[in-house]
Amino acid sequence: MNKIRLIGRLDIKGPNLVKGMQLEGLRVLGKPENFAKWVEHEKSDASSPSSESAQTGSQLFLSKGCIACHKIQGNPAAVGIIGPNLTHIANRQFLAGGIIENTENNLTKWLKEPDVVKPGNKMATIAPVYNNPDMQMTDANIKDLVAYLNSLK
Ligand code: HEC
Repeated sequence: MNKIRLIGRLDIKGPNLVKGMQLEGLRVLGKPENFAKWVEHEKSDASSPSSESAQTGSQLFLSKGCIACHKIQGNPAAVGIIGPNLTHIANRQFLAGGIIENTENNLTKWLKEPDVVKPGNKMATIAPVYNNPDMQMTDANIKDLVAYLNSLK
C-alpha cells in the first residue's frame, strides 16, 4: 500500500498571523512509515556544519545571542525556548509561522529585517542584534548564518 493518505493532524490554533488569515491546523500527509521516520529524524541532533561559512555561522549563532531564544539539539549552548527550535530548520517548508517560504532569499530577508517580514514579532523587538547597535549584523554575518541554518537538515 503506497497510497498517500492523511495520517495525522496537528491541531494548533494561532492568533491572526496575517491580517484576515488564521492558522487552524496542519494536515500531515504521507505514508505512515515515512511519518515515523520523520519523527525519529526530528528528535535527532543537528548535523555539524561542514563548510567554512557554515562554521563561522555556527559561531555567530553564539556570539550574536541567537542561542538565548533558539534550541539546536546537539549544541549544548543553544537551549533557548522563546523562539522556534531550529535543529532541522533547513527541512522546513515555511518560516515565521507559515508566512514565507523557506528559501535562501527569504531566510536572508528574515535575518536582515524580521520586522519588515512580520511586523511586531518578538525576534525583531527583543533580540539584541536588532535593538542594540553594538550587536548589529553585517551582510557577511547574515550570509554565514544562512549557510549554517541551511546546513541543519
Ligand atoms: C529574543 C529572542 C530571539 C533571539 C535573540 C533570536 N530569535 Fe530568532 N526567533 C525568535 C522568535 C520569537 C521567532 C518566531 C517569530 C515569529 O514567527 O513570530 C524567531 C524566528 C526565527 C527563525 C524562523 C524560524 C521558523 O521556524 O520560522 C529563524 C531562522 C531565526 N529566528 C533565527 C535567528 C537567528 C539566526 C538569531 C540570531 C542572529 C535569532 N533568531 C535570534 C526569537 C529570537
